[in-house]
Amino acid sequence: MVLVTGGTGLVGSHLLYFLLKKGIDVRAIHRKSSKLEAVRRVFSYYTKDADSLFDKIEWMEANITDIPALEDAFHGVTHVYHSAAYISFHPKHFRKLKKANIDGTANIVNLSLAHKVQKLCHVSSIATLGSTIDGSLISESTPWNPEEDNNVYAITKYGSEMEVWRGTQEGLDSVIINPGVIMGSGHWHSGSGAIVKMVAKGTKYYTEGGVSIVDVRDVVHAMIKLMDSDIINERFVLAGENITYKVLLSQLANSLGVSAPKKSISKWKLDGLRKLDWLSSKLSGSRRRLLKSTVDSMYKKSYYDGSKISKFVDFTYTNSEETLRRVGKNYLKD
Ligand SMILES: NC(=O)c1ccc[n+]([C@@H]2O[C@H](COP(=O)([O-])OP(=O)(O)OC[C@H]3O[C@@H](n4cnc5c(N)ncnc54)[C@H](OP(=O)(O)O)[C@@H]3O)[C@@H](O)[C@H]2O)c1
Repeated sequence: MVLVTGGTGLVGSHLLYFLLKKGIDVRAIHRKSSKLEAVRRVFSYYTKDADSLFDKIEWMEANITDIPALEDAFHGVTHVYHSAAYISFHPKHFRKLKKANIDGTANIVNLSLAHKVQKLCHVSSIATLGSTIDGSLISESTPWNPEEDNNVYAITKYGSEMEVWRGTQEGLDSVIINPGVIMGSGHWHSGSGAIVKMVAKGTKYYTEGGVSIVDVRDVVHAMIKLMDSDIINERFVLAGENITYKVLLSQLANSLGVSAPKKSISKWKLDGLRKLDWLSSKLSGSRRRLLKSTVDSMYKKSYYDGSKISKFVDFTYTNSEETLRRVGKNYLKD
């Protein structure tokens, strides 16, 4: 039996589809508040028979911070895909981030050890890597730098990765993936889905930064291939393409049939808007939409080398235009 955490999220729902398609018995944990319909919607992009595939999943209610509930979910499990994480860049969410990402991963590692799980695949992030000072590509061997201005999400993802490395020292065979920004369909309110939604609504501006992007299908194929291999205790950056925001937003706009943003907005202007956003949240209690870490990342060109994976397993990245065309098409269909 294979256990999947984070099955209702972007990565987890696509992972569930490809595991089920391979005929694998899957148990997935969810929370009371989880939207299981999102999983069915993702399946419907791949098959007309989404319902019967969905019904093959053994769902169990368990929060990764709730050890007794998790304990039940581990019975009979041989392999674990740990994709669940709390994603927020807001400093006020630090405690919640630490609890879900560090303590939650420690629970997954400890229960994997206790239940003699054969292998764990942990979804980390490029956020756990440091940066280079000479502009060269960042890779698995670029160490985390605690002196950098690391955001709260990065700190807790780094902490969660440390829990997995601790597990490997205690005898748990593991593989870790460190994806860049994951592009995929079905979760339009968060992550890259929110960027798709923003472009679809029409946006005039782009910022001068750049990111590494990777197709969600490539991410889950890499996870399954690594899990099925003899490779253990290695981590892999997953970065299909290094792309400027200008090109990314233009390609998305093309796929959505809307006009591409044409004007660059300077950092000092966006920073001014961030300060207004902060003031308005103080005065009216509204949710902050522009955080300092978000603005900083929009002007940074952080580029990654995702080539290691192809040296270990048979793997090629999907071309970004093809990914964005597919994502745009699914957005218009929904
Ligand atoms: N998206 C990206 O661009 C990106 C890039 C690099 C790395 N990652 C990593 O990839 C993984 C998956 O991300 P995603 O994009 O699929 O995120 P997502 O769509 O936000 O999904 C997060 C998943 O984690 C679950 N979860 C959160 N807190 C939990 C808890 N306390 N107990 C149990 N489940 C919990 C959520 O369940 P609910 O449905 O109940 O909320 C959801 O299934 C994460 O580890 C993330 O750090 C993502």
